[in-house]
Amino acid sequence: MSVPVETDAADWLLRELAQLDDDGLRRHRRTVKHLPQGECEVDGRRLVNFASNDYLGLAGDERLREAAMRVIKSVGVGAGASPLITGRTEWHERLEQKIAEFEGDAAALLFPSGYAANVGTVSTLVGREDVIFSDELNHASLIDGCRLSRADVCVYPHADVEFVAEQLHKHRHAPRRLIVTDGVFSMDGDIAPLWELAHLAEQHDAMLLVDEAHGTGVIGDECRGACEACGVDSPRLVRVGTLSKAVGAVGGFVSGSQELVDYLWNRARTNVFSTSLPAAICAAAFEAFTIIQQEPSRRAALQTRIAQLREPLRRVGLVPETEPRTPIIPVIIGEPAQTVEIAKSLEREGLLVAAIRPPTVPVGTSRLRISLSATHTSKSIDQLARAIQKVIASTSTTR
Ligand SMILES: Cc1ncc(COP(=O)(O)O)c(C=O)c1O
Repeated sequence: MSVPVETDAADWLLRELAQLDDDGLRRHRRTVKHLPQGECEVDGRRLVNFASNDYLGLAGDERLREAAMRVIKSVGVGAGASPLITGRTEWHERLEQKIAEFEGDAAALLFPSGYAANVGTVSTLVGREDVIFSDELNHASLIDGCRLSRADVCVYPHADVEFVAEQLHKHRHAPRRLIVTDGVFSMDGDIAPLWELAHLAEQHDAMLLVDEAHGTGVIGDECRGACEACGVDSPRLVRVGTLSKAVGAVGGFVSGSQELVDYLWNRARTNVFSTSLPAAICAAAFEAFTIIQQEPSRRAALQTRIAQLREPLRRVGLVPETEPRTPIIPVIIGEPAQTVEIAKSLEREGLLVAAIRPPTVPVGTSRLRISLSATHTSKSIDQLARAIQKVIASTSTTR
């Protein structure tokens, strides 16, 4: 007897997908082959990749590959268990110590990803009775951590320190108060007002959690990120980082006091209930931190590229007059369909730039998100600056 085919079950999915198409918001999966020197191959075409977070060009570095291979040859690929069971090996321990030393903190704790680190940390530090103050442009992983915590969440207008101050005062009787913010905002490239927020945290006896995903390895004298660049160091500070961007690997971490790390080790569910990172990844990331410390020329090359692209875009009003310090350069277009068209035109010129649309960014602010790497050549940066101006000019005249 044959079972009748249930067609209705998929109907809502088809309707939802059609709606995404209509709104210009449907994403299609692409397969990318990474090549040296900031290039990649997509659909058989060679492109300069301006849509990667490999800021220092470490993802393909020979030394990271070799470090990972050595460990794979000796212990295999998977960690086999969560950290509290048997997943934490000597390579995890060494990397945690390396991160703590790099960050100038007492201790560090690894997580399976930066996303898991944010979700796990925010939802562990506060609970039902507490209040979170969260910047409206925070990364999705912070937002999801806020939701999961069940704390009262007060979303504040982007970087509005006065608003945070008022709300901290209003919620002064909550048992725990936590300010959460991206250090470098992932879609805008600007830096949070960390000095002011840290000051507020002191005044109001609150904690301050900073997501250093786009700061680690890139800004600050010791490459520790946005807190260092803003001169912020406080026992109230909780810093979350990722190994997936400038560090060139994958995984997340938290660094801070020994008590903080011990508590998260026991309580953060994304640490307790998820398999540890592969030991080979830890070995590669360890190598990456050493390179970041020993080769400041990579960071200097990145800063040169940032300045080289910002300047022509600033002259024609495509980017604001802000200090050229971070490798994320957004060019706001507005509507999703037009943003995708512009990105496609750039691709025809051999340049891969991400078209970022809602829900990743607010409605009406779809944008090209250019991310720069130390491996980009001066020639490709010039090519991008010219192509963007040309493509945007031709789209405005055909509109
Ligand atoms: C600001 C920010 N935080 C956290 C993450 C998550 O990091 P990961 O990719 O390591 O999960 C990202 C990555 O997209 C990010 O941009």
